Amino acid sequence: MGGVPVITVDGPSGAGKGTISHMLAEHLGWHLLDSGALYRVTGQACLIEGVSWDDHPAVTEVARHLDVSFTTGAGGEILVAYKGRDVSRAIRTEEGGRGASTVAAIPSVRDALLARQREFCRPPGLVADGRDMGTVVFPDAPLKFFLTASARERAERRYKQLIAKGESVSLPRLLEDIQERDERDSKRAVSPLVPAEDAIVIDSSAMPIPDVFEQVLLEVKQKGLI
Ligand code: DC
Repeated sequence: MGGVPVITVDGPSGAGKGTISHMLAEHLGWHLLDSGALYRVTGQACLIEGVSWDDHPAVTEVARHLDVSFTTGAGGEILVAYKGRDVSRAIRTEEGGRGASTVAAIPSVRDALLARQREFCRPPGLVADGRDMGTVVFPDAPLKFFLTASARERAERRYKQLIAKGESVSLPRLLEDIQERDERDSKRAVSPLVPAEDAIVIDSSAMPIPDVFEQVLLEVKQKGLI
């Protein structure tokens, strides 16, 4: 990792991390690590391999040998494949999110994915999006953000996204799911979702994405990273 700058963007789902990380990596011309996708693919791989999310040793084996690839599609979107099979859509469903959150609570799964996440750290730099990027995976990162927003606001954003994709969803159900997932992610024994001590916390509840990005860029400039 020595010498390659890393910017970490942690926070709960729906806080805008994915969008901000994407915009930032593109703006800087740096690599992007979507660590949530690795947990999502692990959950999906279990479904494909017939492994129960509760069978910790078997899930750990799946994570250890995860044959995953990230490529860029024609429209600039990121395509995720497991054993060469496109799972980009499957991992983004609500079930995909539940699987990710369940397998992510298993300590040996987190260990198995640690080295793989650090491999993304290559010149000229890395933007790392997740829950424990600043606390566990890249604790020495020179710049760390923690993006958050109220559960209600995050549920509404997710609702709009899913409706736009043509999925039928209920807002109260989404809010419940988000609250449950927050609870699981922040109370788990390993790598709970908490801001790093040196993270800059941004609450985006009442802030449009362009404003959040502007604030992020200002911090990046102040750090001398651009
Ligand atoms: O960011 P996301 O919604 O794609 O993440 C899916 C799940 O994976 C989320 O419930 C928490 C888990 N996760 C994690 O535990 N650690 C990370 N670094 C990233 C995601």
